[in-house]
Amino acid sequence: MPLKRVTVTGVRNLQPVTLHPSPRINLIYGANGSGKSSFLEAIHLLGLARSFRSTRLQPVIQHGEQQCTVFGEVQQPSGLTNSIGITRSKQADYQIRIDGQTVRSIAQLAETLPLQLINPESFRLLEGAPKQRRQYLDWGVFHVEHQFLPAWQRLQKSLKQRNSLLRRGRIQRSMLVPWETELVSAAERIDDFRRDYLQRLKPVFEEILARLVPLDDLTLSYYRGWDKEKPLAQVLDEQFDRDSQLGYTQAGAQRADLRLRCNGMNAVDILSRGQQKLVVCALKIAQGYLLKEYGVQQDCVYLVDDLPSELDAQHRKALCALLEDLECQIFITSVEAEQLRDCWKNDTPLSMFHVEHGHIVQTD
Ligand SMILES: Nc1ncnc2c1ncn2[C@@H]1O[C@H](COP(=O)(O)OP(=O)(O)O)[C@@H](O)[C@H]1O
Ligand SMILES: [Mg+2]
Repeated sequence: MPLKRVTVTGVRNLQPVTLHPSPRINLIYGANGSGKSSFLEAIHLLGLARSFRSTRLQPVIQHGEQQCTVFGEVQQPSGLTNSIGITRSKQADYQIRIDGQTVRSIAQLAETLPLQLINPESFRLLEGAPKQRRQYLDWGVFHVEHQFLPAWQRLQKSLKQRNSLLRRGRIQRSMLVPWETELVSAAERIDDFRRDYLQRLKPVFEEILARLVPLDDLTLSYYRGWDKEKPLAQVLDEQFDRDSQLGYTQAGAQRADLRLRCNGMNAVDILSRGQQKLVVCALKIAQGYLLKEYGVQQDCVYLVDDLPSELDAQHRKALCALLEDLECQIFITSVEAEQLRDCWKNDTPLSMFHVEHGHIVQTD
């Protein structure tokens, strides 16, 4: 689902611009501070209604401007296009429009434009909090399983209710029952979805990793968030006293995690920083391949920021080859165009964009 057209106004230092990117590789180059990451950030905003650099959107809005807007035209496999747009003003929340209609759900935006981000920040996936790995996993499940989102929303709602009752203190066990029934049913459903997805992801991940870096003893496994020998209802029952003391629910799908191990030890304690980056790349690229395998008629768009400063030439080439074979749209940045120019086959469509002081100009 490549972006055929992107219009950006009021984002960071970027001058208002409309680009017609290549459906395959888009190389964005320019000096440090010129606005390369800001351009990727604009696309990220379009697909996910949030930045990848700050939790708040305010800093994304250009100094002196009241709002920022990003529009895009997304080519669907059917030949139709969807026009999507997001505006975020200083006062209000964001406004999302899809094909002229205002929509409230970010999920709809994400569905129209599935994005994968590979940047220095995402390399912390292995060492970061479980939440990041859960988000990674759920990105995949969300895009292949339409029932995932409603189950996830049910889980959040019932969890919130149970936790707020727990915090009230001195409650009867029976008061929790209706919420627990809902919580257990949602958690089990989510667990099934995640488990199925991971089972399919694993071989794809292993194959891709082997093309990037030989790490035969690396294993990827899934922790569902509660004891694998016991039903969740029993665990909630057994942990009721402790949950009441803590004021929140300790076990459940909200605590799931992915575990990466080398020879039985935590991979972050064993692998070099460079190896960890390659593992993260393999995880991210595997999701793109798997999306194709599921045949959900969706390709994701890859945003790859600052790769040359993160990987050596050999691994950079291997990574570019994997991305290229995936045949999806890529936006990739570097300071020097030469660092990434020769990483692709001659006949793959490549567009180049030079960024200077916030001006983006297509050069090739
Ligand atoms: N809200 C903003 N308004 C205007 N300029 C900004 C804003 N936020 C950041 N900048 C500036 O935008 C420039 C572009 O940054 P960035 O996109 O990270 O550059 P690059 O990725 O090319 O190194 C930086 O010089 C930064 O100071
Ligand atoms: Mg940058």
